[in-house]
Amino acid sequence: MNTHRYADRVRSVEMSGIRKLFDAGGPNAINLGIGQPDFDTPGHIKEAAIAAIRAGKTGYTPNAGIPELREAICGKFARENDLVYRPEQILVTAGGSEALHLVMQALVNPGDRVLFADPGFVSYAALATFAGGRPEGIGLDATLHIDVERAKEQMDGARLFVLNTPGNPTGAVESEESVRALVEYAGDRGVTVVSDEVYEHFIYEKKHVSAARFGEDVITINAASKTYAMTGWRVGFLAAPEDYIPECLKIHQYAQACATSIAQYAALAAYTGDQSAVARMREEYRARRDLLYAGLTGLGFDFPRPEGAFYMFVPMGQTLIQRAVEAGVIIVPGAAFGTRAPDHARFSYATAQENLSRAVGRIGTLME
Ligand SMILES: Cc1ncc(COP(=O)(O)O)c(C=O)c1O
Repeated sequence: MNTHRYADRVRSVEMSGIRKLFDAGGPNAINLGIGQPDFDTPGHIKEAAIAAIRAGKTGYTPNAGIPELREAICGKFARENDLVYRPEQILVTAGGSEALHLVMQALVNPGDRVLFADPGFVSYAALATFAGGRPEGIGLDATLHIDVERAKEQMDGARLFVLNTPGNPTGAVESEESVRALVEYAGDRGVTVVSDEVYEHFIYEKKHVSAARFGEDVITINAASKTYAMTGWRVGFLAAPEDYIPECLKIHQYAQACATSIAQYAALAAYTGDQSAVARMREEYRARRDLLYAGLTGLGFDFPRPEGAFYMFVPMGQTLIQRAVEAGVIIVPGAAFGTRAPDHARFSYATAQENLSRAVGRIGTLME
């Protein structure tokens, strides 16, 4: 390959370590690798999309999203997050991923430091690098939560601090006290907070608290993807102080034009319609978490019970992780999520309870 044909920004970033794994375990593999709900999108949301197609709502929409959806997202913030936004503060994107990309592109200059938890969601470092920034991991404490004091030490001079609670890959939910302390400190230091809340509805004991409650300079990222089992529809959004929106919109309008029209109408039904499917999914995830946690701790693994998302981050050693994958239990090595937890593996329990039991059984056999 003639590498000189490619820009440094792509050559310096690896393909996601997660996708590469899926072929490794053979045809009978149990896939606990993938971070997406195994539920189907609720019927009323699919019907709204079909109605939109029938009604011919198939052209470009306003770049920032259809007005009804931006309004509905403001309604969601008021109802669920105790936050007041105006539609001018909302930008509808192709999933949370695009929203993260826009924020990095609009706010990060070459050399700017971008902070996030390590281990953390795979996209943060890559998107910061694409923007010319310098990604910088923040260590977690023994319970896999952000070490607030350590984070504060790194905050001075940083451009962005990405907070992700509930967290991928840890399943950790930060306390209101930590969120408040981090956001207030970032505010004092002129660091913009990017709060990635895509798993906010999948919390089993604690309560979700939005970072934007505690500071002015906070950009909230969210999506229909996980909440409504809509990963393939590609609808997300960012909510920010109003002056950020036109700057993010410049990137969005030239790179994307608008989120898919049909999917926006589906998302409108999701945010304004019956929310009971979300509660049902949450209860099923809770049962799966309890099953998987009991199984893995029963095998002797010692780690705190995750409080949210649909992940478990398990200290099991690189050899056993490798053997588990070869034995057809697809889990993701901690090295995919940063530099600090190579001996952990991420288990996704967005799959049937039967698969979780079989996976625990197979790992148990390897340990005999
Ligand atoms: C923490 C986190 N943020 C954002 C995303 C992106 O979600 P979307 O599918 O809406 O782009 C994911 C998806 O895995 C995620 O885990």
